[in-house]
Amino acid sequence: MSDINEFADRMLSLGLARVSEQAAVASAKLVGSGDEKAADQAAVDAMRNQLNLLDIQGVVVIGEGERDEAPMLFIGEEVGTGNGPAVDIALDPLEGTTLTAKDMPNALAVIAMGPRGSMLHAPDVYMDKLAIGPGFPTGVVSLDMTPTERVNALAAAKGCEPRDIMVCVLERPRHEDLVAELRATGARIRLITDGDVAGVIHCAETGKTGIDMYMGSGGAPEGVLAAAALKCMGGQMMGKLLFRNDDECGRAEKAGITDFEKIYTRDEMVTADVIFAATGVTDGSIVTGARRDGDYLETETILMRSKTGSVRRIHYRQTIK
Ligand code: FBP
Repeated sequence: MSDINEFADRMLSLGLARVSEQAAVASAKLVGSGDEKAADQAAVDAMRNQLNLLDIQGVVVIGEGERDEAPMLFIGEEVGTGNGPAVDIALDPLEGTTLTAKDMPNALAVIAMGPRGSMLHAPDVYMDKLAIGPGFPTGVVSLDMTPTERVNALAAAKGCEPRDIMVCVLERPRHEDLVAELRATGARIRLITDGDVAGVIHCAETGKTGIDMYMGSGGAPEGVLAAAALKCMGGQMMGKLLFRNDDECGRAEKAGITDFEKIYTRDEMVTADVIFAATGVTDGSIVTGARRDGDYLETETILMRSKTGSVRRIHYRQTIK
């Protein structure tokens, strides 16, 4: 079994980019098709094939679901050649299945890798999320604060007015109260229909995206992926698992979670240095979507390492067979 020092993140990072690239290439063919399932399946197949070429002893900790509900890339599935470091993998082959089916922005193929034991085994429940970009004192905003307090605290830290703060929120009926409270502060809101991994990442590139803060509930697995991204880019994130029934509590217990009230910080969700890759499926503010150009298909991938804080954007081109 490898330890943290043996996690060859530098060597493995390009391999990880290849994995997300091929997932994006596969699902790109189904952009705008209206077929979410087919787009997801294409991404899953391609991601799994590529992962199995990597020299790792990989275990999927954030995946397509539990073994009985996901035939591929299920939680606990072993991936890789079996040679090389023991690693945890968090993945979402197609983050934004509806965005892809409807050709809407910010659908991504996403994957993160870290040494074994480095990522929270989040069950498939909701997570209350809060994120801001780098450059602010630790704890300047927290999940313990009301949305109003968060806006005011961030505005004070930025030296601006609440109306200058842009908050990204998933547009859902469950967020009506949150949106109403945010509007009352004067803050502006970027409503997104799906894709909160991108929503959180947007906070780390405020100059480009215009988004200062992410708030609201979304998938817990997506929360861990977003925490991995922010660990590489800088920025703060907090998440609290939300349980709606006994079945969801049971899933958490099965995943080894004992404290159901815990607020996880970014570094409690991702406890060691990781690598993160996301390739655009549809156009977005982080990366452009996969596109056909004559006989070629082109993608853009953001590839990051938390150890060094390096952020690369890789343009890839392959011939269409
Ligand atoms: P899928 O790609 O699985 O469709 O997830 C998209 C997504 O918008 C996530 O980004 C988000 O975390 C989650 O769905 C929100 O869940 P819900 O649609 O139940 O509000």
